[in-house]
Amino acid sequence: MSSFMKIALPALALTGSVYAQSSCSVSATTTIQNAGDATALAGCKTFSGSIAIATGTTDDIALNGIKKLDGNLVSSDNANMKRISADSLEEIDGTMTLDGLTRLYAVEFPKLKKVQGIKWNALPNLQTIGFTAEVTEADKVNIQNTAIRSLKGINIEQVDTIFIANNGYINEVNMQLGNVSDSMTFADNNEALKITLPNLIWATNMTFRFVGSLEMPSLESLNGSLGLYNNGFESFSAPNLTSIGEALAIVANEKVSNISFPLLTKINDNLQIANNTNLSMIDGFPKLKSVGGAFDISGNMSDVETPSLDSVKGTFNLQSTGNVNESCAFYQPLKDKKLIEGKFFCKGKLVDPGQQGNKPTSQSGSDKTGAATSLSAVNGALGLAAMAAVFLL
Ligand SMILES: *[C@@H]1O[C@H](CO)[C@@H](O)[C@H](O)[C@H]1NC(C)=O
Ligand SMILES: *[C@@H]1O[C@H](CO)[C@@H](O)[C@H](O)[C@H]1NC(C)=O
Ligand SMILES: *[C@@H]1O[C@H](CO)[C@@H](O)[C@H](O)[C@H]1NC(C)=O
Ligand SMILES: *[C@@H]1O[C@H](CO)[C@@H](O)[C@H](O)[C@H]1NC(C)=O
Ligand SMILES: *[C@@H]1O[C@H](CO)[C@@H](O)[C@H](O)[C@H]1NC(C)=O
Ligand SMILES: *[C@@H]1O[C@H](CO)[C@@H](O)[C@H](O)[C@H]1NC(C)=O
Ligand SMILES: *[C@@H]1O[C@H](CO)[C@@H](O)[C@H](O)[C@H]1NC(C)=O
Ligand SMILES: *[C@@H]1O[C@H](CO)[C@@H](O)[C@H](O)[C@H]1NC(C)=O
Ligand SMILES: *[C@@H]1O[C@H](CO)[C@@H](O)[C@H](O)[C@H]1NC(C)=O
Repeated sequence: MSSFMKIALPALALTGSVYAQSSCSVSATTTIQNAGDATALAGCKTFSGSIAIATGTTDDIALNGIKKLDGNLVSSDNANMKRISADSLEEIDGTMTLDGLTRLYAVEFPKLKKVQGIKWNALPNLQTIGFTAEVTEADKVNIQNTAIRSLKGINIEQVDTIFIANNGYINEVNMQLGNVSDSMTFADNNEALKITLPNLIWATNMTFRFVGSLEMPSLESLNGSLGLYNNGFESFSAPNLTSIGEALAIVANEKVSNISFPLLTKINDNLQIANNTNLSMIDGFPKLKSVGGAFDISGNMSDVETPSLDSVKGTFNLQSTGNVNESCAFYQPLKDKKLIEGKFFCKGKLVDPGQQGNKPTSQSGSDKTGAATSLSAVNGALGLAAMAAVFLL
């Protein structure tokens, strides 16, 4: 007798269709080992308790009949399971964990609309998300190491955290998402990944690494930080973004030549722009008035303009291979008037421009020019956020 039968039979007392309307409740997790165990749950319209698919299960698992699962659905380390489905399931009040299912190619939940968490990892044969009706509510979505091509099937309006990483084939994401209360991360997926978030209005933290294109036309505010690292786009624009609650980091986007934040007035923590090799002009911050942390820009620019800036609480560092004398002529008076409160360093025609703390060499061959600050360089502006207070000293 399977472990499911042992655990669940007394509780359910299944005797066929008499129980078709019933709700079933088990105190602990019910473990199913084969297709028959799954079929035996069909009488439960509402199933309270978690369902685990035993390690080593090779059958296709069809959880038919269940409309609502008040618990988790978990399947881990089943190298031979190929399909999991649930023809009636509309809601999972728990997390759907699928992990280490190396042959799994079908996840078919045609009626699923709502799930608390989606946690998928190591599903190298899963190419599509079979949520035909579209999941429109989920608090946490974490999808890593799958073969999915898009997030079609997951179209949520709001989310706490969404973490999509190492999915080498995903090339398109287009979601109605309106807000992200905790964090959104897209990292190390297919480098051609095109992300469009037409309705996104506010978010807390957002990090994008190795993304091909990114559009967030409606984004108005960020309570946390925005980090753009190693992306492939030639231009980036946040046309409606007015404030950033923590840091803004734009680092190592090798093709970017135009960054545009036309309405941004305030960055509460650090502004860091570095290693964007093809960025020769920074004029996309016409309204930026205050930076609550460090202002740290280095690279190949010959022009850096932030005409509205009148407050920098932390260190100011501008280092460039290009001639930035005109830019420095704008910033020096801000330092003189103490509108820039931290240490000040502004210099062009350098061989090796770098972030704050870097001691660059001048192209004219003179000696090292002396560092802007003795602060050690931490892993990007986001990592420095906690140190903002130091800059005030
Ligand atoms: C978050 O977005 C959803 C969907 O767009 C919306 O209904 C909700 O009011 C938003 N919440 C906040 C706090 O903005
Ligand atoms: C930009 O924000 C304004 C209000 O702040 C809103 O009316 C407008 O629709 C937004 N634009 C986009 C493209 O969402
Ligand atoms: C983030 O900011 C938005 C808009 O300013 C606000 O509605 C929301 O409550 C904030 N969220 C958090 C988690 O602070
Ligand atoms: C944003 O992320 C950083 C780094 O993980 C964290 O320190 C910070 O608290 C987050 N911000 C918010 C508002 O949650
Ligand atoms: C650099 O930017 C210019 C536009 O300013 C563009 O024409 C060129 O293709 C870019 N080069 C690279 C290597 O991305
Ligand atoms: C940079 O991008 C902004 C916004 O997309 C656009 O208005 C502007 O014309 C672009 N600048 C250049 C030099 O291409
Ligand atoms: C920029 O690139 C240099 C050289 O690879 C590296 O040492 C430095 O840490 C990078 N800066 C940032 C902010 O990542
Ligand atoms: C400046 O451009 C050169 C040539 O494209 C590149 O090798 C170098 O890394 C760039 N420097 C910075 C700091 O972006
Ligand atoms: C930039 O300004 C400095 C000091 O004002 C001056 O010594 C230097 O020659 C200028 N460099 C260029 C390229 O104009």
